[in-house]
Amino acid sequence: MSYFDQIAEAAAFLKFRMGSLAPRVGIVLGSGLGAAAEAVSGAVLVPYSEIPHFPQSTVAGHSGRIVAGLLGGAPVVIMQGRVHFYEGYSPAQVTFPMRVLGMLGIHAVVLTNAAGGIKEGYRVGQFVALGDHVNMMGWNPLTGPNEPRFAVRPGAGQRFFDMTEAYSRRLRTLAREAASEEGFTLDEGVYLATPGPSFETPAEICAFRVLGATLVGMSTVPETIVARHMDIEVLGISCVTNLAAGLGSVPLSHEEVYETGRRVEARLASLLARLAPRIAVLVDAEP
Ligand code: HPA
Repeated sequence: MSYFDQIAEAAAFLKFRMGSLAPRVGIVLGSGLGAAAEAVSGAVLVPYSEIPHFPQSTVAGHSGRIVAGLLGGAPVVIMQGRVHFYEGYSPAQVTFPMRVLGMLGIHAVVLTNAAGGIKEGYRVGQFVALGDHVNMMGWNPLTGPNEPRFAVRPGAGQRFFDMTEAYSRRLRTLAREAASEEGFTLDEGVYLATPGPSFETPAEICAFRVLGATLVGMSTVPETIVARHMDIEVLGISCVTNLAAGLGSVPLSHEEVYETGRRVEARLASLLARLAPRIAVLVDAEP
């Protein structure tokens, strides 16, 4: 069965499970950041293991299920947990779920992640909206023949497409306003993605800072590229779970990343509940 047919089958399965719910907004929750999924009402829960061809997360802190329902009153489809390149998944597998969300008809996606903070002044536990990214994964998920059936809307699915505003300016504005109402400020940063799974060396962090990065992580960039290919608007939000290598006083660990996420995930959940209906209003106004 072709890659496209597998995606179509997974999407058809989820469509059936979601019944009359037709979300236009998708959300991907990163390491330790799953709380927003608990705030969904009328939730339809679908473990990844039940979805045909869907990759399974192997990382502690990534629970691995779809949660579809109402968040802040808006229909959303949430991925609680994602898969990463460092788990051994191919670029096609890593971006399979984003393709499925695209086939389900979402017009906007919020990609959240845990990241190391490179910029001076970042505090552990703060959230940063992505203004741009640097792809240091060493690969692009769109390498290979362009699949025209990913043109889910007119204009989508192009071989070559613009990445000047990979992260939607208007969604960032909404996010900043919602954060301010929640009582915190949302800085804007540049996320650099590495393949992982080792954390960076201090020399790499120095190099990444010179490249313009303020955040470093091991996800999100492939999803953003594939979302943009389908003309899905992207909002990226990083949680600074730790200071990047060489900048803090303690060695980096997955435990610190996970624990920081857990400590602030409720705040992210409130932000997303406030944001979801506003994003829905924006994208529902479009064809
Ligand atoms: N580096 C890479 N990925 C990460 C980090 C980090 O410091 N923190 C959370 N994810």
